Amino acid sequence: MNSSSEHWDAIFSHAEDSKLGWYEKESTQTLKLLNQIPNLEGSVAFLPGSGTSVLIEELLSKGVNLVLNDISVEALNRVKERLGDKSEKITWICQDIAQPFQDSIPNVDLWVDRAVLHFLTNENDIKGYFNNLKSLMKIGGYALFAEFSKTGARKCAGLKLH
Ligand SMILES: C[S@@+](CC[C@H](N)C(=O)[O-])C[C@H]1O[C@@H](n2cnc3c(N)ncnc32)[C@H](O)[C@@H]1O
Repeated sequence: MNSSSEHWDAIFSHAEDSKLGWYEKESTQTLKLLNQIPNLEGSVAFLPGSGTSVLIEELLSKGVNLVLNDISVEALNRVKERLGDKSEKITWICQDIAQPFQDSIPNVDLWVDRAVLHFLTNENDIKGYFNNLKSLMKIGGYALFAEFSKTGARKCAGLKLH
């Protein structure tokens, strides 16, 4: 099975956040790395496959401007509801991150992928993903990839991993 909007919408419409296999109450490890970046406050971060992660609130509280992407409108709507008025400051991109962007998106200082790239299992999708990354990243920006290790789980959310 491929990573599709239907697949992910079904997951997000049936399970509350704390029941998701990748749920974290706090993004401790990610923040440990991001806190090493100079000028984090005021920077612009792109989160591909942002899901419903609390990293969103954690970055907002550090003054980071967010561009949130997900293939699942259910996931993005859940976050919009959670954030209330704060959601107005965010740029929302609901699409497959392997496909070219339809709208113009601000250039970004940070790209934070937590458990998304590994769902792209064919070369064209992986190329599309990196074309998008290259088109948005400012020179001197930072990209963080947190994926399963090669000896880790071979499946997540019922999908095969790369
Ligand atoms: C394992 S979850 C991780 C969610 C989030 N990054 C986190 O740290 O909690 C994978 C997320 O990627 C999204 N996703 C999967 N394939 C995608 C794709 N091709 N384009 C955009 N988002 C995708 C899913 O909807 C889901 O929200």
